[in-house]
Amino acid sequence: MQSIRRRLAVSYSLALTATVGVFGVALYWERRASAVREQEEQVAARINVEVTFGVRVLQEQYRTTQNLVARIPTIGAAPGEVLLGLQRDVGNYFEGIRDVFAIADNVGRVLYTSGAVSALPPEAATRIRQALVRQPIERRAGRITLVQGEEPYRYVIEPVPGVGDGSGVAQTWVLLVAARPEGPLYGPSQLLMSMLIVAPLILVASSLLGYWLAGRSLEPVDQMIEELEAVQDGRSLHRRIAVPPGGDEISRLGSTLNAMLARVEQSFTSLRRFTADASHELKTPLMVLRAGVERSLTHPKVPAELVDSLDETLRQINQMTELITNLLTLARADEGRAGLVTAPADLRNYVVEAAETAELLGAEQGVAVQFTVPDRPVVASVEAGRIRQLLLNLVTNAVKYTPSGGEVELTLDLLGTEAELTVRDTGIGIAPGDLEHVFDRFWRADPARSRTGDRPGVGLGLAIAKWIVEAHGGTITIQSRPGRGTTVRVLLPMDGHEPRA
Ligand SMILES: Nc1ncnc2c1ncn2[C@@H]1O[C@H](COP(=O)(O)OP(=O)(O)OP(=O)(O)O)[C@@H](O)[C@H]1O
Ligand SMILES: [Mg+2]
Repeated sequence: MQSIRRRLAVSYSLALTATVGVFGVALYWERRASAVREQEEQVAARINVEVTFGVRVLQEQYRTTQNLVARIPTIGAAPGEVLLGLQRDVGNYFEGIRDVFAIADNVGRVLYTSGAVSALPPEAATRIRQALVRQPIERRAGRITLVQGEEPYRYVIEPVPGVGDGSGVAQTWVLLVAARPEGPLYGPSQLLMSMLIVAPLILVASSLLGYWLAGRSLEPVDQMIEELEAVQDGRSLHRRIAVPPGGDEISRLGSTLNAMLARVEQSFTSLRRFTADASHELKTPLMVLRAGVERSLTHPKVPAELVDSLDETLRQINQMTELITNLLTLARADEGRAGLVTAPADLRNYVVEAAETAELLGAEQGVAVQFTVPDRPVVASVEAGRIRQLLLNLVTNAVKYTPSGGEVELTLDLLGTEAELTVRDTGIGIAPGDLEHVFDRFWRADPARSRTGDRPGVGLGLAIAKWIVEAHGGTITIQSRPGRGTTVRVLLPMDGHEPRA
């Protein structure tokens, strides 16, 4: 259960991390792209403003002065060379322009370049010139690489009609403005920072939430497991688990389990009833058989050669009667019909009785029997017949599984609120792997499996012993070492004390 919960929470967190990651990257790139777009738009708008400004200044100045050109005195100019430039007071208008800004006249002479052009390497001036003199003279816009290996500039080339150099004829000049986005992009990096701070918080919080949610949705399953664990044996098969309403998977699982429990209970009941009915039905014919064989045996005219076989038949009938009685007892116990009729009794009497029987049995087999009982009475509310049966089953086992020369010891003791009864033998013992099966019905250890032979039996003795002890509110345990012997320990609650849970 824990692991499903953890698995769910982990997968949820992983899925969330992936989603947040992808979302974050997409958001970052989108933000970055739009920041770049904004910068580009700003640049384009600035270029347009500067173009309009340039055209307007040139045309207005020409209208008032009719000449925009002046000779520029240049030290070191070649003889005969005339350098022309924009009139100084016209040029002053363009001082403030930080972008690449250039003006050429109608024959391709560059009359003005802004400070930004001088800041660039000489190749940039050449490229600007080439762009300005390109024919035909018309408005052009696009991108131009001014410095090899650097980002291209966005540019606009605009014809400026109605200007001139004082020749009296209006000319059409050209004006170039180029610019590119400068400076860092602010939006995306700030977004990245905030995402790096917020994302871990979101992830931690939602992982905890996922763990909690997984726990909550698995709670009904947990509850179901607990309820199912209470269905321990045939007697608790009538229990049903609570089915949560809603018809979801969990309530369907609950209904399915309940249906299965119902079917199991039904088969259990019919099996029990069959065993009980069959044993019951077999009892009467067996009694008739026994009476017939006994009568034949005691008949004065019975032929001597038949006595042995009649004896054997009687022995088999007796064994079968015992088996059927045992089966009936267990079947009734399973059905809950074998209620005890208890009365307070001193357990010492039964122990002494059982020890006497054991002595008789042991004498045949060369097994010595001893017993110890306390001086004080050990009073418990018991059904006398059942306690006798319990002790008989235990001592017959002890004697049966102890080879000649061995010992069997019965002890009754007071242990706080309980009576402790032990039957110890020095017999063949039980292999450790077999110990958990000894209380199973019809289970017998391998070497002793034959029904007849020197250790006859069917494997019901301990099953019945266990039922008797538990019906009295007690416990039974068995300890054994192969070749060393076996100790069966029974604890029964004494009078005036509640049985242990
Ligand atoms: N004291 C013991 N020493 C060694 N093995 C034992 C002892 N008591 C029980 N066992 C083993 O446990 C098995 C089950 O015992 P249980 O009394 O139920 O059956 P059984 O004695 O074989 O037959 P039944 O008692 O029905 O006549 C035995 O067959 C035997 O293998
Ligand atoms: Mg037995």
